[in-house]
Amino acid sequence: MATHHALDTRAEIDFVLAMRRRWADRLYPALKEEYDAVTGDAPPAERSAAGETTETLPLYPWFAWMERGSQKMLWRAVERAVADEPAIELPAAPKGSLELHPEIDMPTWYTDWDIHVQPGGVWQSDMSARTYELGAKLVMLGGNDDYLFHRRFVETCLAPLEGKSPTRLVDVGCGFGKSTWPLKKTFPEAEVIGIDLAAPCLRLAHAKAEEQGLAIRFIQGDCQATGLEAGSADLVTSTMLLHEVPRPALEATIAEAARILKPGGLLRMLDFQYTGDAFRDFQVSQHGARNNEPFMPGAMSADTLAMCEAAGLVNARWVAFDERGGGRLESLAWPTRSEWHFPWAVLEAEKPA
Ligand SMILES: C[S@@+](CC[C@H](N)C(=O)[O-])C[C@H]1O[C@@H](n2cnc3c(N)ncnc32)[C@H](O)[C@@H]1O
Repeated sequence: MATHHALDTRAEIDFVLAMRRRWADRLYPALKEEYDAVTGDAPPAERSAAGETTETLPLYPWFAWMERGSQKMLWRAVERAVADEPAIELPAAPKGSLELHPEIDMPTWYTDWDIHVQPGGVWQSDMSARTYELGAKLVMLGGNDDYLFHRRFVETCLAPLEGKSPTRLVDVGCGFGKSTWPLKKTFPEAEVIGIDLAAPCLRLAHAKAEEQGLAIRFIQGDCQATGLEAGSADLVTSTMLLHEVPRPALEATIAEAARILKPGGLLRMLDFQYTGDAFRDFQVSQHGARNNEPFMPGAMSADTLAMCEAAGLVNARWVAFDERGGGRLESLAWPTRSEWHFPWAVLEAEKPA
């Protein structure tokens, strides 16, 4: 943890972090043991049946409460930790740019929910962006402190661009920029654009990009209608966005990405997919409810491949992503791990050349 925080704040953050780690690496396997003991040799194949059994298990209320309860504790600790941080300072002579549109029409499905249980969401003030920045690190249980996850996404998912000279890369739902910076680092000659609804996140993304000497164009906009020219991008990415939008917006986001891609351009969107393990998939679907990500189950069961096809993209497929191992995997199958973790996956498609 950052050392400049007061001792009691650090202790509070360390406590929540330890609690979340034990929730993932002790409580989840213990819950699975209870489940296996009840279901024996004939575990339910369907998620709903796995859920009915899970809900009868003695450990389940603890598991469920600790996910939501520790998330609330985390935000309280983080809010205290960032309370003394200065306002985001924008550079006077930036290499990149920040295009804010205060008149933007924020969808009510975006503003009505405190996403991830973060009080007030990520879009209301500079503090909400700072809170999100520190909270996002903690939610990854210390596993993404230097944004390895996002670097690995860029390193392992964009192989077809190697040796090419892409001219425009667009990262939609870019948040405070941790998914956008590695694009610019990897393709310094390209115009890199990050788009998000949340002005505070974009201000932070821009300030942090400039600190790193990265000339990135950040635009306040909606991933469903970016306003960018048709056929102008070699690549459209998103990370951790798709499960946060309702199904019509999911369809519109994919269609918009297809519209702005050049012929031969790539779509690479990192999100979650069900694994086929009914027990695990039930817990994943319930994460949406417990963590205020109400559209997650709908997004995960949506036919995103058909949406890609309807948008004119080809070769659409999901592949697994192993954030602790080698990143992108060749198929939709993950290495076995006993602790709770997300089934990350990448939606890939191309626009016909
Ligand atoms: C979980 S965050 C991921 C941020 C970033 N890509 C990352 O990996 O750190 C999802 C982001 O999507 C943004 N978002 C949600 N709906 C959006 C929309 N319709 N248009 C643009 N951005 C959106 C949110 O404001 C938030 O910053």
